[in-house]
Amino acid sequence: MELDIFDLPPVSPDAPDVIRVDHLVKRFVLRHTRSMKEAFIWLIKGRKGDLSEKFNALNGVSMNIREGERVALLGYNGSGKSTMLKLISGVMQPDDGSVLTRGRIAGLIEVGAGFHPDLTGRDNVYLNAAILGMSKEQTDALFDEIVAFSEIGDFIDTEVKFYSSGMYLRLAFAVAIHTDPEIFLVDEILAVGDEPFQKKCLKKIKELCASGKTLVVVSHDLDLVSQICDRGIVLEKGNVRFDGDAMEAVDVMRDQPLGTTKKHRNEGDLLAAHQKLETLANNKRDLEAAISAGSSEPVAVALLGIAEETQAELDALSNPEKLEIVNSEIDRLTKKKARLEKEIAHYQ
Ligand SMILES: Nc1ncnc2c1ncn2[C@@H]1O[C@H](COP(=O)(O)OP(=O)(O)OP(=O)(O)O)[C@@H](O)[C@H]1O
Ligand SMILES: [Mg+2]
Repeated sequence: MELDIFDLPPVSPDAPDVIRVDHLVKRFVLRHTRSMKEAFIWLIKGRKGDLSEKFNALNGVSMNIREGERVALLGYNGSGKSTMLKLISGVMQPDDGSVLTRGRIAGLIEVGAGFHPDLTGRDNVYLNAAILGMSKEQTDALFDEIVAFSEIGDFIDTEVKFYSSGMYLRLAFAVAIHTDPEIFLVDEILAVGDEPFQKKCLKKIKELCASGKTLVVVSHDLDLVSQICDRGIVLEKGNVRFDGDAMEAVDVMRDQPLGTTKKHRNEGDLLAAHQKLETLANNKRDLEAAISAGSSEPVAVALLGIAEETQAELDALSNPEKLEIVNSEIDRLTKKKARLEKEIAHYQ
């Protein structure tokens, strides 16, 4: 049965840190275009001072991320999010401070990063997989699955310089997810995928989270991240402005009172739980009637919101087996409903 993302167990407080970022500083040169006059004055003054200014894209940022946490890195354009992910993944070095990571990292940070334009999709799969720590044999074994997931089809033997941004993303995501990373870093790039592919990626990301892997995701889609993540860190001009509950981080981004997003989300979830429970009550009645009538005809039951393949498996079960599943689902949703009602009352 597919897990509701909110039903994932909370991260244990004694889960070990897998990312430790300590007083991280990244400095870039801010290049100004100077007029001839300014350059001349600078020359005759004996080249005193610098024509270019430096600024800190990250200004001494610290954060520890524990195994299994799902962290949203939020902030306005230019606040330092991508720089942070690049430093965590090791593609960029800090000017000061340190980053320590534990476990295999897969990063989807820039469209096309890690891909060689003149090589075909096929060669790039091997190149990328090798960068992510897989042997040729391991890649051979997973190759067909990777290509199937990407849905690239015959384009796999085309040089990737002819790929669209979405095609790059498809192949990069497919490789990254199949290397079974312990830490998964995702920058905005999922946004270039079409809707069916985004859904497919999200399902994979949820599965990854359900198996206890760590996720750090950058996105401007605040509704989406607050559904996936349990923690949110808001960066502002290279500093941490907020670090806490993901839904509260969304409130900070939207400049609204803390708790607003959570309240709306809980109300929506409560409504959905009510509707599901109604359907399940009908299912339960039909199943009990069929069982007591001794009918061997299987009764169709619907569990709203579960994966298609699970529904197919459910269809194949006998009525008593289905009743057991329906009962446990009713039990789970009743508990969830009670929890949501309590949380909503808390905000009133
Ligand atoms: N290689 C670079 N050279 C110079 N400046 C850079 C470089 N990379 C980033 N910067 C600057 O660092 C700051 C932070 O950039 P970064 O890409 O981390 O922002 P971001 O939070 O990811 O923004 P966005 O939401 O637009 O993706 C920006 O001012 C940007 O211009
Ligand atoms: Mg960015």
